[in-house]
Amino acid sequence: MAPSKTRAIFLKSFPKGLPSPDQFELREIDLPALKDGEVLMRVIWMSVDPYMRGRMRPDIKSYIPPFTLEDPLDGGAVGEVVESKHDKFKPGDHIVGFQGGWREYAVVPGDGLTRVDAGIAPLSAYLGVLGMPGLTAWSGLTQILKPKEGETLFVSGAAGAVGSLVCQLGKLRGMRVVGSAGSPEKCEWLEKEAGVDVALNYRNYDSAGALTKALAAAAPKGVDCYFENVGGMHLEAALNCMAFHGRIALCGMIAMYNLSEPEPGPPNLVNMVARSLLAQGFIVSNYMHLAPQFAAEVAPLLAQGKVKFRESVYEGLEKAPEAFLGLFRGENIGKAVVRVGPDKV
Ligand SMILES: NC(=O)c1ccc[n+]([C@@H]2O[C@H](COP(=O)([O-])OP(=O)(O)OC[C@H]3O[C@@H](n4cnc5c(N)ncnc54)[C@H](OP(=O)(O)O)[C@@H]3O)[C@@H](O)[C@H]2O)c1
Repeated sequence: MAPSKTRAIFLKSFPKGLPSPDQFELREIDLPALKDGEVLMRVIWMSVDPYMRGRMRPDIKSYIPPFTLEDPLDGGAVGEVVESKHDKFKPGDHIVGFQGGWREYAVVPGDGLTRVDAGIAPLSAYLGVLGMPGLTAWSGLTQILKPKEGETLFVSGAAGAVGSLVCQLGKLRGMRVVGSAGSPEKCEWLEKEAGVDVALNYRNYDSAGALTKALAAAAPKGVDCYFENVGGMHLEAALNCMAFHGRIALCGMIAMYNLSEPEPGPPNLVNMVARSLLAQGFIVSNYMHLAPQFAAEVAPLLAQGKVKFRESVYEGLEKAPEAFLGLFRGENIGKAVVRVGPDKV
């Protein structure tokens, strides 16, 4: 029988700076009655993503509405259909969508869902390398950076969900790839498993100047393409090392997300002029129409073992706040996901 209640995680107050675990609360709530076009899903995996921090700022207008304190948190989830009033889905189907996370059961609009095939990859991969972060990596690289063989690519946040795929797709396109990440373990994985030419542990450098020196040594011909995930001193160092006519894809700036006061921009922005650089910000939804093209390239690479992926798995809905906070402490390697329930019941 379909459940009438679910456990769900709420925010108790809007954080200032890095959120603390006690700002999250697990509550039991009634599930709404299913309306036409909707699906009741049992959540198997949920995603924690850096953009969710932006949704915890109700005062800032963004491309996605802020969370409220009255509704459960929300986000990407993979689940199983329990009941359906949508003609494309039936009970037992495995689905992925941008809604339904932070809960054990969720009523979600069927139009936002995609059926997933557990035979191609583990279900959790549809929240990472085959999901939104994967499409983000592929889109920023192919649609903005437009790499050429022999060029040098620099990726910040290189061991994360997005960055680790950018690095590998860059290598497969014949680029020299330099990645930066925040621990020796991450750097070792990048060089030994992901095939990155040089991995820099940015925590060894205490200023943009020191990071610039290391990046310049790792990219002796200059950086043709920079995939920006972090901001702050990473952007400043990249701007110092960009080659003439270099391109920058501005995907995210996680170093900024918990600042109470905005930091001044990089003091060397003028390099954009002198080096004729092109920089473009983007959000993954700009490229949703290219999802089939992305899957056609990346799913076979995954099946052939030419693309590797890592996951940091947190067990149980209760662990979701810890998984989320871990993103800002660098505790995850690869994609951070929370197992909310078993694949089959
Ligand atoms: N534009 C879009 O549509 C879109 C879509 C998805 C993601 N993004 C952005 O892409 C970036 C990566 O996202 P993701 O999902 O792949 O996350 P992720 O890289 O898997 O996880 C976050 C990582 O960021 C690093 N980090 C956290 N705070 C940092 C700081 N102050 N300085 C330097 N590094 C820090 C940590 O790694 P270290 O140990 O290496 O520090 C952490 O593991 C984020 O900026 C995110 O907002 C954008």
